[in-house]
Amino acid sequence: MIKKTIQDALNQQINEELFSAYLYLAMAAQFSEMNLGGFSHWMEKQAQEELEHAMKFYHFINERGGRVELQAIKGPQKEWDSASRMMTESLAHEEHITECIHNLVELATREKDYATMNMLQWFVNEQVEEEAGVTEIVEKLKLIGERGQGLFMLDRELGARD
Ligand code: FEO
Repeated sequence: MIKKTIQDALNQQINEELFSAYLYLAMAAQFSEMNLGGFSHWMEKQAQEELEHAMKFYHFINERGGRVELQAIKGPQKEWDSASRMMTESLAHEEHITECIHNLVELATREKDYATMNMLQWFVNEQVEEEAGVTEIVEKLKLIGERGQGLFMLDRELGARD
């Protein structure tokens, strides 16, 4: 049986992951409006991954005999100034999620909840990949200056994400 403190924190993380999906979907929609189909596709995939993250926490709480309690999801920002702005904000958001995951690890360690600590390791590794992936795009955008052929090429590259 899962402790209430852990259950509450994991439910809060479901909300964080669902908000991430919402945020990335809003960005995907704006990229689509900007005729950057590759960026839009990349963000849609990102949003789908966030839903999968939320479901991992959901199933884990259920498996441990806990109670999933869903909270209201706040609305994401509706508009951004540029493609780089969106990518820099997604990086900042991923850094925030990494911090949330690390806080969960600290809590699980304090509570001696070894199963939760073990489950969270997947997320610790995932966050390293997530931050690296977004950082690469942010850096490329800086290089190409968000214009012309460079942007077109990057859009094509992002459109190939599985
Ligand atoms: Fe669920 Fe992008 O971290």
